[in-house]
Amino acid sequence: MSAVKKTDATNALYDFEEIKLSDKMFEKFAARMYELAGVDLPLTPKNHALIRNRIVKLLRRHNMKTYEEYWSMLERGSNDVIQEYISALTTNMTSFYRESNHFDFLQKALPDLAKKFGNDLRIWCAAASTGQEPYTLAMTACEAQPEMPGAKVRLLATDIDLQVLKKASIGTYEEREMQGLPPVQRSKYFEKVKLDGDEYFRAKDQLHNMIRFAPFNLMNPKYEFQHKFHVIFCRNVLIYFDEPTTKKVIDSLTSCLAPGGYLVLGHSESGNVKHPNLKPLSRAVYQKT
Ligand SMILES: C[S@@+](CC[C@H](N)C(=O)[O-])C[C@H]1O[C@@H](n2cnc3c(N)ncnc32)[C@H](O)[C@@H]1O
Repeated sequence: MSAVKKTDATNALYDFEEIKLSDKMFEKFAARMYELAGVDLPLTPKNHALIRNRIVKLLRRHNMKTYEEYWSMLERGSNDVIQEYISALTTNMTSFYRESNHFDFLQKALPDLAKKFGNDLRIWCAAASTGQEPYTLAMTACEAQPEMPGAKVRLLATDIDLQVLKKASIGTYEEREMQGLPPVQRSKYFEKVKLDGDEYFRAKDQLHNMIRFAPFNLMNPKYEFQHKFHVIFCRNVLIYFDEPTTKKVIDSLTSCLAPGGYLVLGHSESGNVKHPNLKPLSRAVYQKT
């Protein structure tokens, strides 16, 4: 069947479902994503469908009819096009209090960190997505505050994807995005707002003021920060990297931690962690020695 369905003489509707993504084109797109973000997409039916579905959306947006056409634009590579590509191909699934034992751990650990390091504590959330994770970290720090009077926790929330980062920095969510947030926390730390007649939940200033949002690509050859962090959360992103990349990222993250500080990965990401300076403490939680 032709990819163009002619419904009448003047209105030709393009049927994107009909355009086949060849394995060769798949490999090109996958290689570009690996180069840009370290995301490893071997040729499997699942990845093939994923890339295809996501790139079809970009074709539509740019009024293009072939993958080759889009590929040429990507190769010419303006910043906006590259950002849009990264954004389309990253998976941003997240939720409040995801893998909640990590936040229980942190709430108990923060007062000890304050005793050890003084009242200025720094947490880095290194794959912040749409913000649910850094806001959960901020709420956790607020909940720990009575046990560490005088301590100030500052958070850096980063992601490679500028679109999700923008949403994170706005901190306003639809009801369905509030999943995982207990009602008590919801009313304590979020306020209802109406936008165009629809109801949203906005993080209160108390949380906003604790977090700085900035772009950061974990593939950066150098992680240069002015100060070491006391806690780093880098969860559910290493699963997209291959083993050598994961190792490099863990080395770099560890180099940014103060000795005695904690690195927290996603539950399913602890399999490959073998670092001489990381002591496993509990599920996907490590302490730098
Ligand atoms: C599945 S989300 C995980 C979000 C959150 N950490 C959580 O556990 O709920 C993965 C995030 O990693 C980001 N990401 C992917 N590759 C990255 C890279 N090279 N550098 C920084 N962030 C990256 C994606 O944009 C996405 O927002």
